[in-house]
Amino acid sequence: MRIVLGVSGGVAAYKAVLLLRLLREQGHRVRVVPTASALRFVGAPTWEALSGEPATDQVFEDVEHVPHVALGQGADLVVVAPATADLLARAASGRADDLLTSTLLTARCPVVMAPAMHTEMWEHAATQANVATLRGRGVHVIEPASGRLTGADTGPGRLPEPDEIARVALAVARGSDGEGSPSAAVGPERDLVGRRVVVSAGGTREPIDPVRFIGNRSSGRQGVELARAASARGAHVTLVAANLSPDVAALVDGTGLDDVVTVETTAQLRDAVRAAAASADVVVMAAAVADFRPAHAPGAKIKKVPGRGPEPIALVENPDVLAELAHDRLRAGQVVVGFAAETGDADGSVLDHGRAKARRKGADLLVVNAVGEGRGFGVDANDVTVVDGSGEVVATASGSKREVADAVWDVAARVAADRADAGAVPAE
Ligand code: CTP
Repeated sequence: MRIVLGVSGGVAAYKAVLLLRLLREQGHRVRVVPTASALRFVGAPTWEALSGEPATDQVFEDVEHVPHVALGQGADLVVVAPATADLLARAASGRADDLLTSTLLTARCPVVMAPAMHTEMWEHAATQANVATLRGRGVHVIEPASGRLTGADTGPGRLPEPDEIARVALAVARGSDGEGSPSAAVGPERDLVGRRVVVSAGGTREPIDPVRFIGNRSSGRQGVELARAASARGAHVTLVAANLSPDVAALVDGTGLDDVVTVETTAQLRDAVRAAAASADVVVMAAAVADFRPAHAPGAKIKKVPGRGPEPIALVENPDVLAELAHDRLRAGQVVVGFAAETGDADGSVLDHGRAKARRKGADLLVVNAVGEGRGFGVDANDVTVVDGSGEVVATASGSKREVADAVWDVAARVAADRADAGAVPAE
């Protein structure tokens, strides 16, 4: 799981060091985002050495990766420990005056805060109102423990022990309330631990000349959400990214996927996908692959000759990467998943076309979605039907592209596990 650990300025920041170690030991990627005052208690070198990632409170560092947006968007869980009275106040009022509060505003994943402060500050009506506001917005605020505080005083306000914070935070990320109550919406399973997956995302571009190309409108968001969801479920992920739109590329930067290969053309995408697929348990072809490419792409720009119309551009067919993968089966037991963006027409419905495509391509699963009418391209909502290789419907899902991604993995992880049980050897 990709975790952002926010640390605000209190003596209890030292306990966040232990929390960081615990989360890392459990195999999570953790990016620490301290506030300026937290750095007065525990310095950046400690956070960086233990997390293996940069630790700064600044929004003006590493600006090309837009960290104040990317960190929150890319997280599967944000934990703030300790959360001081000031941090709770800033979060409740929606401030974005440092990297941590900006991250809190952009995070769409579960957020858990573990307050720590003196009893008077905790019990003050202002703090209690801030906590109520945050809880009302879905933030899980852990009750502080009672006991010895920094001075001679005792009372509620103590930071719970790191293992307790980790237990609650991870339970919240999984969709439980951390208090043992089952939740209707069980969050990401860790059902891809030890599996290697490849996801292609975006759209390929075929050069006409050095400045022009034939391309398509795919932003890459669904593919990137599939990669992020697989990573959250424990997989080793290779993302083959073809011309992602800038906002989606920023999402990848904050995600910390294991392997990101950037490609432009179908030939490059094919090579990258096949290289990674040789050791993968699941390959998901979410990229929109250009079906045709110009037969010849001159090395110099094609000039407009006044008075003479444009030369026709001869096209040749690209290889069908998905059909090849389904045919070649580069690794025993591999699950091959394709996507099909369809519109209904006189020859059949969206599902009719999807079923026919599933049979034609030979993939194990095909995720069929209707495009047009505000769904599909460039928007966050998606409606899909998952069919198997014979065209039978095995699942349907609708919601955000992340929710659709998790629904696809629910099916793909199950098929991969069944195959592993049936004798195929997992990759790791
Ligand atoms: N695909 C591929 N290689 C291609 C074309 C498509 O691997 N040359 C993959 C896509 O990544 C997707 C699936 O095939 O997973 C379906 O893509 P789509 O464009 O819907 O299929 P086409 O075979 O191009 O069919 P259509 O005639 O509907 O465009």
